[in-house]
Amino acid sequence: MKEYLVHPVFKIISEIVTRQDTPAFVIGGFVRDSILHRPTKDIDIMVLGSGIDLARSVAERIGGNTPVSVFKNFGTAMLHFKGMEIEFVGARSESYRKNSRKPIVEKGTLEDDLKRRDFTINALAIRLNEETFGQLVDAFDGLKDLQDKLIRTPLEPSKTFSDDPLRMLRAIRFSTQLNFTIDPVTFDAIGPNANRLEIISGERILDELQKIMACPRPSVGFKLLDKSGLLQYILPELCQLKGVEFKEGKGHKDNFIHTLKVLDNVSAVSENTWLRWAALLHDIAKPATKKFSDKVGWTFHGHDFLGAQMIPGIFRKLKLPLDQRMKYVQKIVAMHLRPSSLVQEEVTDSAVRRLLFDAGENIDDLMCLCEADITSKNEETVKKYLQNFKLVRKKLIEIEEKDALRNFQPPIDGQDIMHTFNLKPCREVGLIKNAIKDAILDGIISNNPDSAYQFMLKKGEELGLKVAKK
Ligand code: CTP
Repeated sequence: MKEYLVHPVFKIISEIVTRQDTPAFVIGGFVRDSILHRPTKDIDIMVLGSGIDLARSVAERIGGNTPVSVFKNFGTAMLHFKGMEIEFVGARSESYRKNSRKPIVEKGTLEDDLKRRDFTINALAIRLNEETFGQLVDAFDGLKDLQDKLIRTPLEPSKTFSDDPLRMLRAIRFSTQLNFTIDPVTFDAIGPNANRLEIISGERILDELQKIMACPRPSVGFKLLDKSGLLQYILPELCQLKGVEFKEGKGHKDNFIHTLKVLDNVSAVSENTWLRWAALLHDIAKPATKKFSDKVGWTFHGHDFLGAQMIPGIFRKLKLPLDQRMKYVQKIVAMHLRPSSLVQEEVTDSAVRRLLFDAGENIDDLMCLCEADITSKNEETVKKYLQNFKLVRKKLIEIEEKDALRNFQPPIDGQDIMHTFNLKPCREVGLIKNAIKDAILDGIISNNPDSAYQFMLKKGEELGLKVAKK
């Protein structure tokens, strides 16, 4: 495994630990990702001694006053060197709990340390001492599991999961990220332990969710979350979307399956995490708005607006940011039916202008979600919708070129109106302002100050207003 140890830190560590006659290893994600030929971003060093002392010796050898961050409670230390974050830890007999507030400093053997790690593929270590430099330590058949694409705990899974319940989520995240299967014995232990997720901080859970969200096909993770019983503890609103109800022979689609398809469709064309969240949540209010009538069958009227209203609550619970990123998700969810309602009717310039005005700079993302939202199995329907969306996109470009509505600022504002007619703030000012906006959006006047000025004078006259003397 020497070929993976090209970073200069390995030679430095090797010299130090050989001189001190202390066994040391590179372990965990670095080993796993190197064997899988995936990019590595950090290096975990485990030593049968003090991780903090080793980090200090390494920093001294590197020179230039390399700063070392020491976490005394956990017996770990970290430094940065040539583009890598390098963490040092002493072998432990207790479970590895990096982010837990509870300190674990119990010293252990190599075997102790490996068996208390999360998965066999993360319990692979490479020796760094000179005489054995590059040798793999594989106590739990981790290499075979890497080849078989299998996620499996080194110990009995309930033991591994109770040491750190976040590992249940990590199993699903690794499975989604690496396209690996979770060993059935490991997977079956998640359900009975699912409620233990409650002791894990929201931030750590969110971190895993975001990693699932960043995968090429996040649906894989959400399906596993559901099947394992974890989803109920994380995002019960999503579980509510499951299932199909039939009345008088009429059924609706399974909105859980549909939502995950839309999420994957969006993920295939956009890396934007927040657009992916919008995809995940776009139909979240369907259960709350579901109705059946003899005439039209199932409807979900208003699920777009109610969905947007539900988002702050969901974001708060998941510790997602409550800033403009949340507002963006709300806006996309609130508007997600607009382009499709357009293509069902005649695509008029005025309707496209209004859509562009309301969506502003988010128009491309909105169109992307709408196209992803077509999950019908009927090829003809899909073709028809996509063709109509193409037409909307074409019109959007034409109108955008002509009217520059994406970042619409009215060419005449309230101040101009008050000044022209010598008014204080009053109802008439609002009326004229809206009339100008509508005239532009309906294509009655062009989007420029001169046309808007003339239109304002006309409107003022209609309202019986007099132009102020200069
Ligand atoms: N680890 C563990 N249990 C956890 C977290 C981590 O046993 N809950 C161990 C694993 O051996 C893991 C190593 O600590 O490989 C490093 O953890 P971390 O940096 O969080 O994960 P990586 O495996 O490096 O993967 P990623 O960076 O993708 O999270």
